[in-house]
Amino acid sequence: MKLHRTRRRKFLKQIGYASAALTAGSWLASIGYAQTRGPARTIINQARIRSDVDRRIFGSFLEHLGRAIYDGIYKPGSKLSDNNGFRKDVMAIITEMDVPIIRYPGGNFVSGYNWLDGVGPKAKRPTVLDRAWNSLETNQFGTNEFMEWCKLVNTEPLMGFNLGTGTPEMAVALVEYCNVDRGTKWSDLRREHGYEQPWNVKYWCLGNEMDGPWQMGHMPARDYGRKARDTARQIRMIDPDAKLIACGSSNTILPTYMVWDREMLEECYDQVDGISLHNYYGNTKELTGNNTSRYLAMNLDMERQIHQITDVCDYVQGVLKSPKRLWLSFDEWNVWYRARGGRFANGERKFAPHLLEERYNLEDALLVGGFLNTLLRESNRVRVACLAQLVNVIAPLVTNETSVMCQSIYYPYAWALKYARGRVLDLQVESETYPIKAEGLRADFAIDAEVPYLDVVATINPPDGKVCVLVLNRDLESERELVLEWRDPMPTRVLACETLTGSDPKAVNTFEQPKLVVPKPLEAPLAGSKMTFKLPPRSCSVVQFATT
Ligand code: AHR
Repeated sequence: MKLHRTRRRKFLKQIGYASAALTAGSWLASIGYAQTRGPARTIINQARIRSDVDRRIFGSFLEHLGRAIYDGIYKPGSKLSDNNGFRKDVMAIITEMDVPIIRYPGGNFVSGYNWLDGVGPKAKRPTVLDRAWNSLETNQFGTNEFMEWCKLVNTEPLMGFNLGTGTPEMAVALVEYCNVDRGTKWSDLRREHGYEQPWNVKYWCLGNEMDGPWQMGHMPARDYGRKARDTARQIRMIDPDAKLIACGSSNTILPTYMVWDREMLEECYDQVDGISLHNYYGNTKELTGNNTSRYLAMNLDMERQIHQITDVCDYVQGVLKSPKRLWLSFDEWNVWYRARGGRFANGERKFAPHLLEERYNLEDALLVGGFLNTLLRESNRVRVACLAQLVNVIAPLVTNETSVMCQSIYYPYAWALKYARGRVLDLQVESETYPIKAEGLRADFAIDAEVPYLDVVATINPPDGKVCVLVLNRDLESERELVLEWRDPMPTRVLACETLTGSDPKAVNTFEQPKLVVPKPLEAPLAGSKMTFKLPPRSCSVVQFATT
């Protein structure tokens, strides 16, 4: 039945939905914003909870790609490494960051990976040619090394299966190898390799970007859905606690966007727990018209993608009359547009080549702050997300022979990891807005909308009562005020108040000048029922409060 357009809008509004086709005003309302004049304002009230934060939304990603593993986290023989060959300086900073979950071993790499090459005595492991990045893979770092490393940095593995060139048989064998205690072919092989205890991996990706024509083993949606379903069914038989993530669309521009998700879910919905989403963003002519104001609104494009994929999941749930609701795993997201080298870079059959070594500036960091706000705001459906990636390859951390350097994007990520805990508050934010225009932009980013200057999220952690507020000020020219009005609880003290800003949006940290883009203290008003913060132009900021 075709609903008349106005009736459709009314219907969507009634059930609390808005789509990109709606007016700018209702798009803002769907993410909890209202237009206002003068200072922005929001109310802190713990009676209004949006969702519990699963800290897995602050996950990251390490792929066998370029210098991410080799050089980045594993460098045997270096005086910076421990007896396992793990770089101690890199482990120290990742432990300090407290990254909750790390995706491994790919990425495109996983779709041609034979995990058996990477286990057992190192001297016997083959050097192979990785066809995702045309690099040499020595297999000196594999599943068991990753598990050991995860324990040392206190993180959880999010393991990927090869559902490209690989079979369900070998995927399930990997689960048996990792999670079964003893007495079977693959669990005994693990023991033979020196690991008596099972690793008990819980979260698994059923392949990587299988919708992408560039992916090894790429196939039509329904074929993938059936392969994922078969794999998942076998896994559930041997490990009922496994959390299984189906490959959703790998970006928003492919012609199969959303159709892929619907078709593959129609095949495997009842056997999976989550669906993956990926996207990378950039300040380019095509995506933003090289316009930084449009660029800083791109977390709202991420938010639209989350809403759209949620709608597809719920559509399939409705059609199948399933009691189960899927969650979303945004397991690759970041700024990535400079170090691309064509669609995919070419490692020229080298070992650990310099690939995808993107250098991040201040405006990239501000947008990363925005993405983290979006993931928090949408954490009722997004349960896992991975900043892609963690070391050297499109990463917040970069290594050289002697040290590790924090790029600009490290700082908003570190804040979210440190401060955003507990529950996300359901804020209604009143903010002045500015227009963005669709004209001339790539179709999936072409939207006419009003964008709030201030993007604000808040969390409260019930055990200790600490409140965290994260704010992106998209205004490139002017300071903006934010009034926080407290209902319940009341703030007693500001525990931390910092901002990341600067006069040059293109400023970049380097090994020579690693402190060009770093947070500085932000002046905080006295704790009280109404507090006005002055947020510098082009900034993102964090405030942590103690409460009664
Ligand atoms: O993260 C870099 C690459 O981007 C991954 O290998 C792939 O999944 C995506 O296209």
